[in-house]
Amino acid sequence: MILGIETSCDETASALVSADGEVLASVVSSQADLHARFGGVVPEIASRRHLELVTPVVREALAEAGATLADVDRIAVTQGPGLVGALLVGLAAAKGMAWARRLPLVPVDHLRGHVASLYLQPDPLEPPFLCLLASGGHTLLLDIRDHASHAILGTTIDDAAGEAFDKGARLLGLGYPGGAELDRLAAHGDPTAYEFPVARVPGLDFSFSGVKTALLYATKELSEDELAARRADLAASYQRAIVRALVERVSEAAAQTGAKRIAIVGGVAANSALRAALPEAKAAALEYCTDNAAMIASAGRYVEAVPYPRYLALDAYASAEV
Ligand SMILES: Nc1ncnc2c1ncn2[C@@H]1O[C@H](COP(=O)(O)OP(=O)(O)OP(=O)(O)O)[C@@H](O)[C@H]1O
Ligand SMILES: [Mg+2]
Repeated sequence: MILGIETSCDETASALVSADGEVLASVVSSQADLHARFGGVVPEIASRRHLELVTPVVREALAEAGATLADVDRIAVTQGPGLVGALLVGLAAAKGMAWARRLPLVPVDHLRGHVASLYLQPDPLEPPFLCLLASGGHTLLLDIRDHASHAILGTTIDDAAGEAFDKGARLLGLGYPGGAELDRLAAHGDPTAYEFPVARVPGLDFSFSGVKTALLYATKELSEDELAARRADLAASYQRAIVRALVERVSEAAAQTGAKRIAIVGGVAANSALRAALPEAKAAALEYCTDNAAMIASAGRYVEAVPYPRYLALDAYASAEV
């Protein structure tokens, strides 16, 4: 049994996953409400909250699985990328628990964790496949060769897709983080009402700053009443532009690599329009799209564990190591 711990951003999460990828427990405690009034995650507040929550969340996961630490064979924890202060809380907690029971510890890359959400039961996907990772901090096209390695085919040159959703949501007066809310609002709007641009960047890279600016100008032209009346149309058209940018690149990458199978992971993979636009793609289960620890424990199955006591020297890292 693998115990997973995730604290890279504003979700404190813990999960128990079996060696063959069955999720025995998954607990996610979101701090979103705490950060909402600031319109984004405040790193120091996130760290402090993780400190309060990490032990209760691990306890809850163990209780949900009907297990104790004595049943755990290894501990997998997110090492980076993310907010360093937040990561350090999870890492220190994992080190302490592993040390107390002389368990091996597996440092997991958060992005590999998102990909490993596809390896969970039921119906796990086996490499090779082409993977779109679209989250709050990253937009990557990955050529997944096996469980532990990948090549990057494309990335964003400015905002991440999730960030574009969140910034758009903010312009439309929705809460933070607004991606899911924008998705719900868009369901009531006309996606062809506005013609928002799809950026053309060389290669297989993405750019989302132009579409965000286009939305800004569109909202500026409207009075408060008009904006209220057209919010759903704006949301639907904006979402359509982002989804088109993602889908076009995925199709181009599939043609270039000859990939037979396509998968989507990360918070934006929860988007209903994206899922509908890629019906043949394998999408991560909804509950494992946004940050969670089941995906971290899942990735921990394919990364070599660091033995006791060497892992006590591990440090967190803020940006992608890929
Ligand atoms: N239904 C949805 N439609 C669009 N975006 C969504 C939806 N649900 C969640 N998101 C977006 O997903 C993002 C959060 O995803 P995730 O938790 O994977 O990102 P992160 O952990 O903050 O970033 P990273 O994984 O790159 O470090 C947010 O930007 C959120 O708005
Ligand atoms: Mg994430």
